Amino acid sequence: MKSISWGIVGTGKIANRFAADLQLLDGCHLHAVASRNLERAKSFAEATKSKTYYSDYQSLFEDMEVDIIYIATPHSSHMEYSISAMNAGKHVLCEKPLAVNEFQVQKMINASERNKVFLMEAFWTRFMPSMKRVISLIDEGELGEVNYINADFCFYKEASSEHRMFNMDLAGGSLLDVGVYPIFLAYQIFGFPEQIHSNAIFHETGADLQTSIILKYKNALANLGSGFGSKTDMIAKIHGKKGRIEMQAPWHHSSELKIITDNDQKDIQLPLKGRGFVYEIQECLDCIRKGEIQSNLWSHKNSLDLILICDQIRQQIKMKYPFE
Ligand SMILES: NC(=O)c1ccc[n+]([C@@H]2O[C@H](COP(=O)([O-])OP(=O)(O)OC[C@H]3O[C@@H](n4cnc5c(N)ncnc54)[C@H](OP(=O)(O)O)[C@@H]3O)[C@@H](O)[C@H]2O)c1
Repeated sequence: MKSISWGIVGTGKIANRFAADLQLLDGCHLHAVASRNLERAKSFAEATKSKTYYSDYQSLFEDMEVDIIYIATPHSSHMEYSISAMNAGKHVLCEKPLAVNEFQVQKMINASERNKVFLMEAFWTRFMPSMKRVISLIDEGELGEVNYINADFCFYKEASSEHRMFNMDLAGGSLLDVGVYPIFLAYQIFGFPEQIHSNAIFHETGADLQTSIILKYKNALANLGSGFGSKTDMIAKIHGKKGRIEMQAPWHHSSELKIITDNDQKDIQLPLKGRGFVYEIQECLDCIRKGEIQSNLWSHKNSLDLILICDQIRQQIKMKYPFE
């Protein structure tokens, strides 16, 4: 079986963690990395045992030895780099959110279909053993009818206004950076909401610093939040008529579930391999080997629905990016 060859775009925090996990898998290897800066590219290649490196992204997209590109750059650049990579015939795994709005995500999906290449949003939580177990416990009726979720993704962050988390030119703000996680959880369990209610407070740049969201379904509610202004317990709670599942902190890559019912409490330990990126990487390898252009665990439609929810929230909180 041919080893699938990866390229990584961007040399930041998440690219480093991803590259470390890539080394834990059989059937693939890191061939090349790219940075906008030659020195960064060289040292990232050395640290990650990449065979080669480039000081511009386009050269990586054109490297004939690369099969799939992982895009780990700020949100505002996801569409452009993903489409350039796909037009050069590469499969793409792009960090969340797939892009900034519905228009951009749709353009990326069109590029995947036109070039017949695999495209997936790097929603690593979807592929974690803990998330898969939550879904099967719900399907098996462990909680009875599930009708309420309480989840957020908040931490305290101090950084300059130029930092990608606060910078509006880079599509900053807590909603697109971390709010997508609790929205994903509610969407995964309840589907697309009937109604969305949200409110926010803002950083001086105009990026949302803290956002609260209620998703309403026919017989269920999800009470969600995101923020860079406060430190929360990062435990997600999924409630049903018979009890609840708590995904222990940090819930988005949890290695422990607590199932709490009237007469019982069970702990399920699900230790992660590496930092937890191996599961989404394995999904890419499996889909590419089958000739799929999307994953059926986190499909193009799922990414589109997720950004549609974010678009509606941004409309409600009146947050528009300068390039929109
Ligand atoms: N799955 C997860 O757990 C997770 C966690 C954190 C972040 N993320 C996602 O991963 C992506 C990157 O986040 P990060 O925290 O790794 O960001 P980061 O540390 O700031 O790194 C981003 C990298 O993108 C490149 N880049 C290209 N254009 C840029 C620009 N205009 N400004 C700044 N950097 C630019 C830079 O690499 P060069 O200069 O070397 O080219 C930089 O190192 C985002 O989509 C974020 O939402 C995912």
